[in-house]
Amino acid sequence: MKFLIIHGPNLNMLGKREKIIYGEKTLAEINSLLKKQAEELEVEIISFQSNSEGAIIDFIQEQSPKADGMIINPGALTHYSFCLRDALLDTKLPIVEVHLSNIYAREEWRAKSVIAPIAKGQISGLGWRSYVFALQALVSELRDKT
Ligand code: DQA
Repeated sequence: MKFLIIHGPNLNMLGKREKIIYGEKTLAEINSLLKKQAEELEVEIISFQSNSEGAIIDFIQEQSPKADGMIINPGALTHYSFCLRDALLDTKLPIVEVHLSNIYAREEWRAKSVIAPIAKGQISGLGWRSYVFALQALVSELRDKT
């Protein structure tokens, strides 16, 4: 099984950016924890980060036909990007939306996700573990089905 892990705008700054909110780990460290988890689960992952909405959509269109599911932290695109939502919906893949911070406990505008209604589920507020739990959940769910 193969999964796409997508990180949206500004997540390349993890480890430096608002550490109180997003934690100390860099994106490279999170990707490496995910790789370790993927090896344990015996699945393949491809991680991608971009600050550009278009580049993320291009990646989804190119890679999703070869994938079984997707984990995405859309960053601020979560709150307004209808074109990202359309691209995700078009893949027909199971998607888990993740957030490092609890988007419901912050500014009011962050509590709205335009991605959540088309996602299988959402994990918000568990720091880097949000990603790891999302991968575990997706793999477990897909294995139950096959
Ligand atoms: C975030 C939450 C978003 O509101 C914010 O714009 C981010 C990160 C999170 O992981 O907590 O860039 O998605």
